[in-house]
Amino acid sequence: MAVQSTPPATQTDHVQTSLPDGKEGRVTASPDPFQDVFRDIMSRFAASVTVVTSFAGDRHHGLTVSAFTSVSLDPPLILICIDHTSHSVAALRVAGGFTVNMLQEGTGEVARKFASKDPDKFTGLASTRPEYRGAGLVLSSESYASLECRTVKSVEAGDHTVFIGHVENAHSHRPAKPLLYWQRDFHRLMPD
Ligand SMILES: Cc1cc2nc3c(=O)[nH]c(=O)nc-3n(C[C@H](O)[C@H](O)[C@H](O)COP(=O)(O)O)c2cc1C
Repeated sequence: MAVQSTPPATQTDHVQTSLPDGKEGRVTASPDPFQDVFRDIMSRFAASVTVVTSFAGDRHHGLTVSAFTSVSLDPPLILICIDHTSHSVAALRVAGGFTVNMLQEGTGEVARKFASKDPDKFTGLASTRPEYRGAGLVLSSESYASLECRTVKSVEAGDHTVFIGHVENAHSHRPAKPLLYWQRDFHRLMPD
């Protein structure tokens, strides 16, 4: 059964959803039932996890990001989607660039820390300065690869800003497997 994005006139307790195996599922009610269903479906979409770093206002910034994808090979472009409620969005708007650090398996604690509001997220982590001046710190111990990017465009999209970055430097640190996020928890990649 489909759920439409227009809120119903009267509030229901639950929204019926069709789960992948055909069983009916229930989603806890909220003021907007469509958002519950949308969130639930997206939580079942497994994603790789990154830490996006930037430098602005004389300090380093970083947050955990799964909304990352490549856009173009020639020129080399990628994008990230950043929530307007994050502290990092203001830094990314003025920084002129950022670094995408692709987290390797076993770094769930690092991802949790960068998903928090801890003012000192970089303590205890080995980091190096980027070669491209406008980018953020490179986390070479926790990530298997890092992309230093120059921001070429930002697009407002609902409650997020999409930053498109031109890859200025690409670092492959080691051939490790990625950290995965699925159903609100971190996982390891296994062969099918
Ligand atoms: C696995 C995971 C993926 C996330 N992906 C994103 C994302 O793509 N974009 C985003 O804005 N926030 C994302 N977040 C939430 C931010 O990491 C979180 O709001 C963080 O506290 C923001 O930090 P800041 O306010 O210091 O910038 C994600 C969190 C987790 C745990």
